[in-house]
Amino acid sequence: MSESKTVEIRVKRFDPDTKQFTVKSYRLEVDRFTTVLSALIAIKEKQDQTLSIRYSCRMGICGSCGMVVNGKPRLACETNILKECGDTVEVEPMLGHPVLRDLVCDFDDFFAKHKSVKPWLIRRDRAEKFRAEKEYVQTSKQLDEYLPFTYCIKCGLCVDACPVSNLNPGFKGPQALSQAYRYIADSRDEGAKARLEALDTFEGVWGCEFLGACSRVCPKGVDPALAIQLLKMRVINPPRDDTH
Ligand code: SF4
Ligand code: FES
Repeated sequence: MSESKTVEIRVKRFDPDTKQFTVKSYRLEVDRFTTVLSALIAIKEKQDQTLSIRYSCRMGICGSCGMVVNGKPRLACETNILKECGDTVEVEPMLGHPVLRDLVCDFDDFFAKHKSVKPWLIRRDRAEKFRAEKEYVQTSKQLDEYLPFTYCIKCGLCVDACPVSNLNPGFKGPQALSQAYRYIADSRDEGAKARLEALDTFEGVWGCEFLGACSRVCPKGVDPALAIQLLKMRVINPPRDDTH
């Protein structure tokens, strides 16, 4: 592979004043280390300071740089241009979230849905949580029940890919539902019954049509589609009380 190459980067931009989308093309020399995010930062620094992008960590941790690259929801910082994109890179904002400007989306609704499933450990004795007199011991099997679902970085790519989320704004969506399962499956949690009752709706688990697009795009292997099917099983067979 040659050391560097000039590629075309076509960015679908949104102007909130006119509510219009336009495509702007940039040419940039990239090398084998250039990611879509580093290319966009270089464009912003050297060619067009008006380009709006959202990012923080640049290493697949913060979940801020989600966008659609060559038709697929991706983390821009984890998408290598020469290895994965070819000579032309088409970059668009995620359309499963309201677009604020260019590649920047509004995550208020996304985080409100996340919060609505109570993504924290619920204990009957609330005061006990703050006394810290003992550990909540778990076996490795109990840990395995929920560990894969803790890797969510809240990038929103699964919601962008989900056809149900795109058609039904009331649907909780794959991210919030997978996080509901993460806590329900945790042996330390005592809020399963109430959570399951709240999700026994078409805005909850029954909205999911199990198309699996969410799991295919998740950069962290969270598998929200699996989490939702496991939630459905628990809704049908709820625990008699909140113990596991
Ligand atoms: S489940 Fe995966 S795709 Fe969805 S927000 Fe979490 S990390 Fe992103
Ligand atoms: S900038 Fe943090 S995940 Fe891409």
